[in-house]
Amino acid sequence: MTNTAAVAQRGEAILSLIAAEIQSFEIGSTWLNALSETLNATMLERNGVGIAAPQIYISKRMIIVASRPNLRYPDAPDMQPIVMLNPVITQRSNEMTLGEEGCLSVPDERGQVARAQQITVQYLNLKGETIVTTLAGFPARIVQHEIDHLDGILFTERLNRQA
Ligand code: NI
Repeated sequence: MTNTAAVAQRGEAILSLIAAEIQSFEIGSTWLNALSETLNATMLERNGVGIAAPQIYISKRMIIVASRPNLRYPDAPDMQPIVMLNPVITQRSNEMTLGEEGCLSVPDERGQVARAQQITVQYLNLKGETIVTTLAGFPARIVQHEIDHLDGILFTERLNRQA
């Protein structure tokens, strides 16, 4: 069993930092792979569909996107989990979509957030390969939510109060 980690909660300083880029010498290291395993295990334990390293007190640009139907998101599409290092959104659709979000760091609140319907994201995988992929709908929403964590932003700062 992989160890899980404690999850930082709203109000903790780590969640408002700009996370550091992962450097090329870190790719393939034991510690970076262990971070990915711990991040994934922590997400699964809490029925998350995504997680970002700062949520487990590591201020590095690593996220996991893992849409699947579960207790918290019964209608989520099923996809293989994707670990993204240094993810950057290179294109976003003008079309926005409103949808409900929650967060493992804000367990007591959910709300409607407007996000781009479709995005193109470029990232490195754990082998250090550059990947460019286009995602739409809920997985695109997860990527935008998790990259926000790398920039110190919580979904509660983006709530659509008119919704
Ligand atoms: Ni979150």
